[in-house]
Amino acid sequence: MSARIVLLPGDCIGPEVAEQARRVLDALPLELEVDERPFGAGALRETGEALPEATLAACREADAVLKAPIGHPDFDGAAVRPEQGLMKLRSELDVYANLRPAAQGDIDLLIVRELVSGIYYGAKGTREDGTVFDTCEYHPSEVERIARQAFEIARTRDRKLVSVDKANVLETSRMWRRVVTEVAPEYKDVELEHILVDNAAMQLVQVPERFDVMVCDNMFGDILSDEAAAVTGGLGLAASASLGDSGPGIFEPVHGSAPDIAGQGIANPAAMLRTVSLMLAHGLGEHDHARQVEAAVDVALREQPTPDLGGTATTAQFGDSVVAALA
Ligand code: NAD
Ligand code: IPM
Ligand code: MN
Repeated sequence: MSARIVLLPGDCIGPEVAEQARRVLDALPLELEVDERPFGAGALRETGEALPEATLAACREADAVLKAPIGHPDFDGAAVRPEQGLMKLRSELDVYANLRPAAQGDIDLLIVRELVSGIYYGAKGTREDGTVFDTCEYHPSEVERIARQAFEIARTRDRKLVSVDKANVLETSRMWRRVVTEVAPEYKDVELEHILVDNAAMQLVQVPERFDVMVCDNMFGDILSDEAAAVTGGLGLAASASLGDSGPGIFEPVHGSAPDIAGQGIANPAAMLRTVSLMLAHGLGEHDHARQVEAAVDVALREQPTPDLGGTATTAQFGDSVVAALA
């Protein structure tokens, strides 16, 4: 097997965790061409664009895109931000299904987040009177395709799907609930339940073990996935895969660029390395190697935990442990 991967090292702790990902990829007996490209705050500073044309072109040509977190406090008040590059990349590759697994003890859930529409991408702006607006917009076809993905995935798991919405208030949510309900008869083997998002947030803290697959719109999925990470060991562990119907997937940790701990060499690379595992499985079809990386990360979590987990290991020591376990 030979494959081409575009690696986007990103900002702040991004390059620190990306370096460990590179080491792990190098340690695998696979023919991988890793093409590192500028993206995020660094690219914005150098080229004026968070997602340079050449980076986007390389991503389109790749077998998979492995992305470390982007975002930098320097751009907090800026008109153009690194995050806009990320939204453009997701949209251009049409990776509408963002899978965010969270497991620990008797908790084993998967958030299926719609990633390329909703309030992130709807009309936004400022009116003459100073009112600022972001609009949540969904087309039924966008809901249908993410619902089908969620049902298909639920079939491979415990066959329990919870659809999250705010149908008591929002028109988009009422349509979301209707479309998910219309698709359901094609998946009679999957038990479907609708839950309002505020209730879902509460239950994720109180009874997270009751959930199997949860399907959410873009923003609800963003918020609930950080919450799911928090109840299963923290953001330092949470990986994700963003997939479309064709073309390369984008594989990225759930966490951000963590400027508060950048440059100290203490970021937990587990989320990034679990993301490598998701990429091997979902992006390259290398299921055995994916499982090996996952198991090696579990070894490192026991032997060399980083400070966020109460340990004292550095990012590099965690990586050493993963590479040793692989060998
Ligand atoms: P964050 O996820 O970066 O950090 C939240 C908290 O979790 C911080 O205390 C941080 O130190 C900790 N944390 C996160 N990842 C960690 C890791 N691997 N190891 C140890 N601790 C970790 O969220 P934030 O501070 O709200 O956002 C910072 C920047 O990241 C913002 O610019 C935001 O837009 C961006 N962001 C990017 C992505 C992405 O690229 N996919 C995702 C989320 C946030
Ligand atoms: C995530 C992040 C992004 C999102 C931001 C950085 C645009 O929070 O991947 O969860 O909200 O999708
Ligand atoms: Mn987020």
